[in-house]
Amino acid sequence: MNTHAQIAPNADDVVLTGDRPTGPLHLGHYAGSLMTRLVTQERVARQVLLIADMQALTDNADDPGKVARNVVEVALDYLAVGLEPPRSLFVLQSAVPELCELTMLYLNVVTVSRLERNPTTRAEIALRGFVRDIPAGFLCYPVAQAADITGFDATLVPVGEDQLPMLELCTEIEQLVNRAAGAPVLRSARAMLSSTPRLPGVDGRKASKSLGNAIALGASNDEIRARVRSMFTDPDHLRVEDPGKIEGNVVFAYLHAFDPDRDALATLTERYQRGGVGDMTVKHRLEDVLVALLEPIRARRDHFEADRGEVMRLVAASTEQARATVADVNRRVRAVFGLAV
Ligand code: TRP
Repeated sequence: MNTHAQIAPNADDVVLTGDRPTGPLHLGHYAGSLMTRLVTQERVARQVLLIADMQALTDNADDPGKVARNVVEVALDYLAVGLEPPRSLFVLQSAVPELCELTMLYLNVVTVSRLERNPTTRAEIALRGFVRDIPAGFLCYPVAQAADITGFDATLVPVGEDQLPMLELCTEIEQLVNRAAGAPVLRSARAMLSSTPRLPGVDGRKASKSLGNAIALGASNDEIRARVRSMFTDPDHLRVEDPGKIEGNVVFAYLHAFDPDRDALATLTERYQRGGVGDMTVKHRLEDVLVALLEPIRARRDHFEADRGEVMRLVAASTEQARATVADVNRRVRAVFGLAV
């Protein structure tokens, strides 16, 4: 596809990324992460795609059915875009109990004030309106995430900006454990910051499953068209002759992310800014681009969806494969804390 995937992992990197299964994945995930993972899959021997159901429960315990239902949806989305074992292992977090043990052990070297200072957790707490009623598991999920990263021996973690505090905490834990052990028990992981601008939702706000303003990878052509028609553009672009603004214009954000014809897009952008191009023209173009992009993805999704049992067996098998590494790391960390192995 196009421009974004300039990430360059080495062949011997173990790359780890995760998704909370709270809904099907959408175009924001595709632009921000799935495209990069497809490139990574061609380069490295192992990439772990963690379906983080335990983490999803830390703020969805009131609706566990939602999390359970969406595990297979996320696996279907991975398969639909072309991610697949053995190079990409789909790992179901809750099926690796050693991660919980690691989390418990790491919690002993992290203070409550350290957790309360995490800017990403703070923002999420504010967003969800938690005060003193924060689930303890939610406050601690960055520690669980450090268990994910160190447990799978990851060396490279591609992340968006909002995940950097998680990586920072992970590095601190890794150093504390290695210092206590007097040996490199945990491998260090580096963050690989995504250079793609975050794709907005159709209304211009942050694209999110809960706001319902995203375009799902499995969207039908009719849904795609309806979503594009409702997209926020430039509110001051009233007549076709008026010059149009690109900044904050959702249609152009999507075109820049997905239009394969970069030259035509550059011309269209310039003409729109100058005046003389109507919103309907650019919306039609975007509809065509998205229909062409999502049609083959939807076809693959439909193919795998016909046998969900088979998809879950594939998840179980690749989870077992990756689990061996976590069990090994867990044994080493237990020894650092003086626990019988
Ligand atoms: N927190 C990540 C998210 O919100 C998901 C995740 C869980 C993750 N464990 C991880 C990401 C480990 C990277 C590494 O999407």
